[in-house]
Amino acid sequence: MKRKWSLLIIAALISGCAGNRKIGRAPASLKEAFKNDFLIGTALSAGQIGERDAGARVLVPQQFNAITPENVMKCEAIHPQWNRYDYKLADEYVNYGSRRQMFIVGHTLIWHSQLPGFVHRIKSPDSLRLFMQQHIHTIASRYAGRVNSWDVVNEALNEDGTLRRSVFFEKLGPSYIAEAFKLAAEAAPGTLLYYNDYNIEQPAKRRGAIELIRKIQASGARIDGVGIQGHWHLGQVPFRDLEQSIADFSALGIKVAITELDINVLPRPKNMSGAEVSQKFASDPEMNPYPNGLPAALEEQLAKDYEQLFKILVKYKQQISRVTFWGVHDGQSWLNNWPIPGRTNYPLLFDRQGRPKPAYYRVLAVGEK
Ligand code: G3I
Repeated sequence: MKRKWSLLIIAALISGCAGNRKIGRAPASLKEAFKNDFLIGTALSAGQIGERDAGARVLVPQQFNAITPENVMKCEAIHPQWNRYDYKLADEYVNYGSRRQMFIVGHTLIWHSQLPGFVHRIKSPDSLRLFMQQHIHTIASRYAGRVNSWDVVNEALNEDGTLRRSVFFEKLGPSYIAEAFKLAAEAAPGTLLYYNDYNIEQPAKRRGAIELIRKIQASGARIDGVGIQGHWHLGQVPFRDLEQSIADFSALGIKVAITELDINVLPRPKNMSGAEVSQKFASDPEMNPYPNGLPAALEEQLAKDYEQLFKILVKYKQQISRVTFWGVHDGQSWLNNWPIPGRTNYPLLFDRQGRPKPAYYRVLAVGEK
């Protein structure tokens, strides 16, 4: 009997020390592993909001404490005609998060993409300004007190840091950005307000983002944070640029969030740039090399990339408010169909069956330290 007890005690000591620095139970989830650092979020598709995705039904409440609507709050979905709003899916999304006491992100109030036809048909600047005022006021005030943070303006910059010549810029001039933030603050005074964009960790675009943020601040509008989307590529995650960007953006007195994190493991078409969603390329078997599973070497590279990334994010945990993955599992990812439709990509921490991948355990281990 004595021998059995001593074996049990030794086993308990080994399990307590192995793999994590804190003696005791290893974190059961991403949100628990980083609970002292930053929120861990995920983008939700309409099917996942409606709980029709079996894997996500388990993973989302288990692993995440923040959510972002992948599509259901975009203008084409929620405001399809000038005098018609469709809140069904957006209400379902906000209710999903409220029921689970999750941090609820609104995505996105002003974006040049996914605009309904009537906006493109607007001719006069005054009419477009009236649209923007009504759109922001109606939606931001409807969810005031329930949506915790808005991506107020999304992707207003070009890769060189100049302002994108969007319909908003062309008709309203550069001041549309600060005006959007003022409108959002009036409609939802308690909601955090972010500027969100991809590649703003790159020096030129980062400079443009800094100038844009400074102009918002100089206008007297409130901006609480900046979202670095984090659509990166296997083996090419810009760690150094990211560290510099976190430092530079934080110096503006705002928080930094990683808002749409994924790591593309598939070959990139030669003349593709950034995450500009309008880019499309023809299908090509050479560009879809792993339809039946990712080779072990690439799985390991993915795990290393995510591990190194989270070590950096924990190092800057005082500056980072949230890290949101752009999807719950590989089967959901937009990268299966962009920029080439019908590919099999592996950019996230959970596989198509909702099982944790090696990268998941390496990220969890970073959080345990
Ligand atoms: O809902 C319709 C469906 O009824 C129709 O049958 C189908 C036919 O194509 O289209 C469906 O809409 C698609 C929608 O996703 C929902 O699945 C749109 O075509 C498709 O363009 C849209 O793609 C989304 C894309 O933004 C454009 O809105 C992706 O899911 C979404 O992951 C992606 O996310 C963006 C962020 O919002 C901003 N940052 C970049 C990021 C990646 O592009």
